[in-house]
Amino acid sequence: MNTDKIALITEAGNGFGHKFATLLENHGFSVIIATKGEVYHTRQTLTQGNIEILKTDLTQRRDITQLHDYIKKRYDKLDVLINNGEIANGFGQKIDQLRMEEDVKSLYEVNLFSILEITKTMLPLLKKSDMGKIINISSALGDINKMKDDGFHYANYQMTAYATAKAALEMFTVLLSRELRTTKIQVNSFDPIRLKNCTHNDVAICNQVEKELLELLDIGKVVGPAALSFFK
Ligand SMILES: NC(=O)c1ccc[n+]([C@@H]2O[C@H](COP(=O)([O-])OP(=O)(O)OC[C@H]3O[C@@H](n4cnc5c(N)ncnc54)[C@H](OP(=O)(O)O)[C@@H]3O)[C@@H](O)[C@H]2O)c1
Repeated sequence: MNTDKIALITEAGNGFGHKFATLLENHGFSVIIATKGEVYHTRQTLTQGNIEILKTDLTQRRDITQLHDYIKKRYDKLDVLINNGEIANGFGQKIDQLRMEEDVKSLYEVNLFSILEITKTMLPLLKKSDMGKIINISSALGDINKMKDDGFHYANYQMTAYATAKAALEMFTVLLSRELRTTKIQVNSFDPIRLKNCTHNDVAICNQVEKELLELLDIGKVVGPAALSFFK
């Protein structure tokens, strides 16, 4: 039986994925980061200690299968899956400016469809964990109630593809959490940026946010309101 704690995080860039990886490594996890392009090349020297970076195009089923097969062979289980990779586009774009292929469908491939695919593929490995956690990284832009409020800071961002894909991801999180509620696996959303904690577009994880993430993973205590948490 493999007693190491294993985490898989999508994305390796200058953004949150790498920060989440470092945080988990500091809490004793072996971390696999799955990412695709430029960042993979510039960061592969970071494959050291307990973080390794595996080149993965999340939109390619073959790549996701290879990732699964690697984890199965090496660890035969997965404890934490953080669906964090994304593309963002279309800031301020009005409906007549939407480019369906370049902006909308390409974004949905990464921000929604690949998450369904990777989650489905990794589920058998997560079921072998005694603490399986799936964290879908959300955004306030996908929060319908916040976006209805004219006073909300991001209400006029008008990132149609990004915001609608994040809203759909939120629903997937709810549905999967309900489906898995009789298993040991917990499914949650986590928004890394909330105005009370962080500045706009700041990819530093503030202390409070860090605590909340660790609490969701049952490896830290939360102080104050937690991220969206369903059923458990
Ligand atoms: N930054 C914010 O202000 C903010 C606010 C709220 C929520 N969030 C959420 O936080 C998460 C991380 O955001 P971030 O700003 O840190 O992101 P980021 O810096 O834009 O990084 C996104 C990463 O996703 C990877 N990626 C894109 N397409 C891919 C594909 N097909 N296959 C594999 N990897 C792919 C990219 O890798 P390559 O470079 O290798 O292509 C990139 O490293 C996202 O889910 C985002 O929605 C961010």
